[in-house]
Amino acid sequence: MSTIDYEQKIPNNVDLKSDKKLQRALEQWQPDYVEWWKAMGPSDFNANDVYLRTAVSVDRDGWAHFGYVKMPEYRWGIFLEPQQKDRKIPFGDHLGLDAWQDVPGEYRNWLRRIIVTQADTEPASVEQQRLLGHTAPSLYDLRNLFQVNVEEGRHLWAMVYLLQRYFGRDGREEAEELLARRSGNADHPRILGTFNEPITDWLSFFCFTTYTDRDGKFQLLSLAESGFDPLARTCRFMLTEEAHHMFVGQTGLGRVIERACQLMKEHKTNDVTRYGGIPLEVVQKYINFWNSSSNDLFGGEISSNASNFFGAGLKGRANEEKLETDHTAREGSYTMDVLESGRLTTKEIPLRNAMNEVLRDEYVSDNEKGIEYFNRITEKQGVDFKFTLPHRRFNRRIGMFSEARFDPTGRQIDDATWNASVGQWLPTDQDRAYVKSLMVPCHEKGKVAGWIAPPAKGIDGKPFEFEYVKL
Ligand SMILES: [Fe+2]
Ligand SMILES: [Fe+2]
Repeated sequence: MSTIDYEQKIPNNVDLKSDKKLQRALEQWQPDYVEWWKAMGPSDFNANDVYLRTAVSVDRDGWAHFGYVKMPEYRWGIFLEPQQKDRKIPFGDHLGLDAWQDVPGEYRNWLRRIIVTQADTEPASVEQQRLLGHTAPSLYDLRNLFQVNVEEGRHLWAMVYLLQRYFGRDGREEAEELLARRSGNADHPRILGTFNEPITDWLSFFCFTTYTDRDGKFQLLSLAESGFDPLARTCRFMLTEEAHHMFVGQTGLGRVIERACQLMKEHKTNDVTRYGGIPLEVVQKYINFWNSSSNDLFGGEISSNASNFFGAGLKGRANEEKLETDHTAREGSYTMDVLESGRLTTKEIPLRNAMNEVLRDEYVSDNEKGIEYFNRITEKQGVDFKFTLPHRRFNRRIGMFSEARFDPTGRQIDDATWNASVGQWLPTDQDRAYVKSLMVPCHEKGKVAGWIAPPAKGIDGKPFEFEYVKL
């Protein structure tokens, strides 16, 4: 069951050929998807050979096959982790009952909404990143961008399979809509805010793959616990792909920082703009922007939706099954900083209503580790600069903290202070223009742009000098 059938039009490990109706429906959607990719993906690179990995099995090790592929010919498919025998619903009101192999009727709408919201982020990110190939700092980075892109495309397939297989006509309509919305389009935007933000430079791309893909990781971790078994199995496999996206972001930012440090030492100055580097302060501002925007993706701090989804057994906590805790969460409470009549205070919130915050806690602590990684780089380079993670209250658009102003340490401030300081915290037009000015392609084999250090090693055991994309 774990081996993938590549003989079929749509590679899969779900025995698609035994369900002719579903197979037909998906095979009808497939050309629309490829058309969308050709138009809204990295469209100027449709004809190039790219050294990509493709899933060959969903087993823990060795699932990837590497080889040159033209992106529109990538074998997007449907890969679920194998079904666990007698899996039970691991949390909520139905704790301990058999996991659902079909959509539970009473939760159909909630489940559809959860799946569509997740699904929409996948093509959105491909659209956001579609022009970055033109300014890639190396062939290695270009290849990584395209790897992320094709896998986001595959994540769309993962979700569309669930919609078409389990939600009948509604699911087919949703699948079409997923190809019709457009990132950043005023009339027909993607569902979530961050996924309408333009990504026109590589510093933003590395921040996005660090912070927004990491939001993806935690959403997938919570859905990987779902009592709706096909969703859990789908998300478990998606998580293995997601890890690479965060690697691209985290090491990408690390290389930008490393290069800035080198220039600072070489020229004995903090102003690396004179030498084509990106100042560490600017990197920090981009981190502040993308991290705060991605914090929004977890939703409101106190949420009846989160409570409903948890109670219903649809969306759990990260690693719910492994937690040594009361999996019904009926009784516990969560002590939370809240904003009441414009003032910060602490309050006990019923645990189920705090599930978004519980998940955000995990996200924040993962992000802290990433910041430590950046600080190890500056330290190793002997540069006196400490990166910090902006507080979760900083610069929010969603949730209760969007109703007041907070500085990056989480301290409440008034509008005047915000206006006077925002240019030190978030990228200014000038910062963006400068970063943009550095975005000239470096597409030569073995070369790398001057604002970023080469990676410590290549992909699939290949050297950095390898021809990862044939232009
Ligand atoms: Fe994804
Ligand atoms: Fe991703």
